[in-house]
Amino acid sequence: MIETDAPTYDWTTARQRRKSWKAEERPKNLFSGESKVGKCQVAGVDVLKIAAHPEGLLRLADSFMVHHKHDWKEESAGVGLPLGLEWQQSKDGRFDFFFSLADGIRCFGLGERFSTLDLRGARHTLCTTDETKHTEFADSLYKAIPFMVLFDGDNSYGFFLDSPAPQRWDLDSELNCEGKIELFTRQGWSMYVFGPAPLPSILDSFSAVTGKAKMPPLWSLGHQQCRWSYPDEETVREIATEFRQRKIPCDTIYLDIDYMDEYRVFTHSPERFPAFTKMIEDLRAQNFNVITIVDPGVKKDEKFPVFKKGLKDNLFCKTQDGEVYIGQVWPGHSAFPDFLKPETRKWWADNHSFYVKNGIAGIWNDMNEPALFNLTRPLPDGMDALPAESAQHFCHSLDDERLGHLEVRNLYGTLMCKSTHQGLIEQRPNERPFILTRSATAGIQNYSAVWLGDNYSWYEHLAKSIPMLLNMGMSGVAFCGVDIGGFFGSCPPEMLIRWYELGIFYPLFRNHCWLEGRAQEPFAYGEKCEMLLRKLIETRYGLLPYIYSLFHEHTTNGAPLMRPLSWHYPQDRIAANADDEFLLGENILVAPITERSKSCRNVYFPEGLWHPFNGGTPVKGGQTLAVEIPLGSVPAFVRDGSIIPMASAMQSTAEYESCTITFKCFGKNAQGMYFEDDGKSFDYERGVYNEWQLSLKEGQLSAVSVHKSFDSAGRKYAVDIEGKNSSFKLS
Ligand code: GLC
Repeated sequence: MIETDAPTYDWTTARQRRKSWKAEERPKNLFSGESKVGKCQVAGVDVLKIAAHPEGLLRLADSFMVHHKHDWKEESAGVGLPLGLEWQQSKDGRFDFFFSLADGIRCFGLGERFSTLDLRGARHTLCTTDETKHTEFADSLYKAIPFMVLFDGDNSYGFFLDSPAPQRWDLDSELNCEGKIELFTRQGWSMYVFGPAPLPSILDSFSAVTGKAKMPPLWSLGHQQCRWSYPDEETVREIATEFRQRKIPCDTIYLDIDYMDEYRVFTHSPERFPAFTKMIEDLRAQNFNVITIVDPGVKKDEKFPVFKKGLKDNLFCKTQDGEVYIGQVWPGHSAFPDFLKPETRKWWADNHSFYVKNGIAGIWNDMNEPALFNLTRPLPDGMDALPAESAQHFCHSLDDERLGHLEVRNLYGTLMCKSTHQGLIEQRPNERPFILTRSATAGIQNYSAVWLGDNYSWYEHLAKSIPMLLNMGMSGVAFCGVDIGGFFGSCPPEMLIRWYELGIFYPLFRNHCWLEGRAQEPFAYGEKCEMLLRKLIETRYGLLPYIYSLFHEHTTNGAPLMRPLSWHYPQDRIAANADDEFLLGENILVAPITERSKSCRNVYFPEGLWHPFNGGTPVKGGQTLAVEIPLGSVPAFVRDGSIIPMASAMQSTAEYESCTITFKCFGKNAQGMYFEDDGKSFDYERGVYNEWQLSLKEGQLSAVSVHKSFDSAGRKYAVDIEGKNSSFKLS
């Protein structure tokens, strides 16, 4: 018999835990400081701003999340706030906000959540975290966007808590119709309340405060191929050649961390990428854009010029004792740029000349939560107030004053992107930059697209990508996607095909996987799979004029490209429940299969008439129907009464100008919008673009120009009415 020690339990902790479920009594309000309430109409929506500054403490002078100043008219402090909103300081290092959440109100937004579309019924911690396991246990993920829509048909509200400190949003988790936000800070903050207004107006107004995205380069909407890592030049060239020889459209190839010299940023490996510049030049000639990963960790190496300069000019984060903080990431011991300092951002921005000179088209900012191998859980367990500065891991400085890291943690990734953006804009002034980031907070749309980090090759993650991306859109970030095929694990062919069926509708269309997975490129799976994937990718390219026009709409009113059904059908109670389907713009309903060995699913069709994307009998709306979706087909329906601008086949967007744009009409009377410009410069901001209002009446298509100053004389157009195609003159 083997004798083992009986386990011992700590009964004191057990007793405490047993009691701790009880709701905390509301503590006394400790706030003594200055608070103000202001009012303003922003994009036609009433907005209240409550600003509080604790006494005698450093203030975050300017918010990094607010990009447009508005003229706030001061209100008396006693003004009644909507939804019973109240706030107080409950502890040193904690503010609480209380509000009511009547039955039926749905909660959307809060950035990246592993959740259904409606965030209600749970607690959500906002603290940027490199969480590698996206499961029901995952709370904080890479992004922390403190903006939430309280959706109630046409009378929605929006809450934006402008503070980069950790927060916990409890959305009726105890089923008592109450909401509570705990904000863990000793700094000032502002709370904005938008509404009441319809959902699209709330997003318009929120983006008028935090900034509206600019047009992305057209190529960045094409197909993107990534892998951790293509280890050498030969492999990268081979991948490019495979795409072109097999005629699988693609615009972009990424270089993950192994292109660098021992993971030193702003370098390339002399052994594996000896002719770096030439490789990029040759890929360019094949119409590939190369994107390099850039992580914030700077290798601690006394001989490395970037480290030396950062040290000399005092640009890194510091410990409490004023030493440079050193953490562990890919390069080993590394220092972390203090992006809160404008001089650090400038230095980092200037370093991008390395990439610009080498012809790199875009930058991928990763590990910028920041992720540290020696600090995977940035918040203490069971935190109920912000820890003392000495327990905040390291420090930043702002205007020569010191700030504990947690106070501003959620800003780190966004400020890194701001600096990257600054570098690209300064060095290529009339070229739209493309930046992709993992970490973000409110306002990231001003600088970067986002992807949702390290998912798995799991059907569950394929399905979850819909509500997760919808909530990103509801947080003001339209240019988003997840790793198609899944990052961890190995993606089987059926899953990859199902993932592309949905992925062709993600605004960001990127295939990526980790170093231990099987090859995940669309040509790595045999003939049948390759043929089906090619067709799907071609469909994406066909949709580019529609997607690009939607992007233009987004730059004007903040409307996401991927929209929940409630966006257009706010009164439809069944539509409000749907988060396994969505609308791409107003006109395309996407309802994919997200399970193995299934070929049929229920689709809810909102009111109207819906045409199967690839032809067939239209379906009447207002009902749920079982629909066959064979492997490799396009799981979408087009709204009767719409005109979708579609492009003819191409291998990359370099051929966009010479392809034919067809205005495909669905139904007898139809409407549509079409936007065009040069796809790469900022000339559109100076008015050099065309926007057309298309309409089909009695079998005739007409195009009325809303704006016309871009020379599109060389382009070819056609119209497709009931399957009959003829050329069309757009003038
Ligand atoms: C992180 C990123 C992943 C990348 C890897 C190596 O896990 O999320 O996309 O491939 O680091 O750089």
